[in-house]
Amino acid sequence: MRTRRFGRLGFEVSELSLGTWGLSGDAYGPVYEADLERVVELAVELGVTMFETSDVYGGGAMEKLLGDVLDYRTTQVVTKLGTCRDEPPRKRFDAASLKDALERSRDRLKRETIDVVLLHNPPAAALREGDAVEFLRAEKHAGRIAAWGVSAGDKSVASAAIDQSADVLELAYNLFSARTLHELTDRLAQTDTAVMARSVLAHGLLVGHWSVNKTFFEHDHRSRRWTPDALRYRIGQLQAVRQMVGGEILTMRAAALRFVLANQVVSTAVLGVRSQTQLRQLVREVGEGPEYLPDAVLAALPELLRRAGIEL
Ligand SMILES: NC(=O)c1ccc[n+]([C@@H]2O[C@H](COP(=O)([O-])OP(=O)(O)OC[C@H]3O[C@@H](n4cnc5c(N)ncnc54)[C@H](OP(=O)(O)O)[C@@H]3O)[C@@H](O)[C@H]2O)c1
Repeated sequence: MRTRRFGRLGFEVSELSLGTWGLSGDAYGPVYEADLERVVELAVELGVTMFETSDVYGGGAMEKLLGDVLDYRTTQVVTKLGTCRDEPPRKRFDAASLKDALERSRDRLKRETIDVVLLHNPPAAALREGDAVEFLRAEKHAGRIAAWGVSAGDKSVASAAIDQSADVLELAYNLFSARTLHELTDRLAQTDTAVMARSVLAHGLLVGHWSVNKTFFEHDHRSRRWTPDALRYRIGQLQAVRQMVGGEILTMRAAALRFVLANQVVSTAVLGVRSQTQLRQLVREVGEGPEYLPDAVLAALPELLRRAGIEL
C-alpha cells in the first residue's frame, strides 16, 4: 500500500482508505454481519491506515466497530458530524449539538483525540455564519480532535471550506464527476488542503457490470439516484471508460480508481466496498507501479470523455 502526505497536516496516510457507509447497510442494503469486522481487519492487513465513517452510519454502529477493531496508534479515523437522529433526521451544525455528538463519537471510537472530524454535508452558510467552525477550531486547540474539515456536497460548500482554512476536504471525485475538484485544484494546492476523494466508482456505476435494465432494491439509495432514463444514458457513457481498459488496467473499476489516484491533489481515495472480495479486488487492481494510468491514456481521456458528453 502506497502512502501520501495528508495535506499540510504533514503525516502519511494510505492512498486507499476504507469508507463505512456501504458496510453500515444504510446505503446499499444489508451486509452479512459476520463480514463487517473481517472487512475492517482485512483493510488493516492490506495496509489501509485511514478509516472514514459518520456518527449516523448504522446509528453509530460503524464508529463502534472501528473503535472495537482499530489500534489508535497505527490508524487514523475520520468521522463526520452534523446530523441529528430525530425522525426524520435533521441537519444540526450549532456548537451545542456538535459538542454532544463529538463526545458520543469519542466514546464509540475509543479515542481521546479523533484524528479528523468533518462537518457532514453542511450548507455553505453553516461555514460562513454560525459557530460550527469556531467550535471545531476550539476542539482542535483543546486536543480533542487533531484536525477538522468538511465533507462537501457541491462546489460552493467546498469553496467555503477552503475559505475557512479547513484542514481536510472530502468530496465526490470520479470519472463522471470530476469538475468540482478540477476547478478547485489551484486553491487546494496553494493551501495544501488534504483531499479525501469519495464515490470513486460513482456508487458502482463505473464498475461497468450493469445492464441497461438494472434495477435496485427500494432501500438501496441508488433506486432514487437515477431515473431509468438517466441510468440508461449513464450506462451508455461507460463506453468511453471501457476504452481505458488494456495492458495493466484489467477492469473498468481499476481504470476508475487509477484515474482518481493519478491526481496528486488527492490525498486518499475512500473506498466504499461492502465485502472482503471487493476490497481485495480494488487493492490488487490499483497495481504496484508508480504509474496509475499510462501517459497516452491520460492524454486521450479528456477528448474520449467529451465525446461521451462528460467534461473533466
Ligand atoms: N456525504 C458524505 O460524506 C459521503 C457521501 C457518500 C459516500 N461517503 C463515504 O465514502 C465511501 C464511498 O462512497 P460510495 O459508496 O459512494 O463509493 P463508491 O466506491 O463509488 O461505490 C460503492 C459501491 O461500489 C460497488 N463496489 C465497490 N467495490 C467494488 C468492486 N470491487 N467490484 C464491484 N463493485 C464494487 C459496490 O456496489 P454494490 O453494492 O452494487 O456491490 C459499492 O456499494 C462511503 O462508504 C462513505 O463512507 C461519504
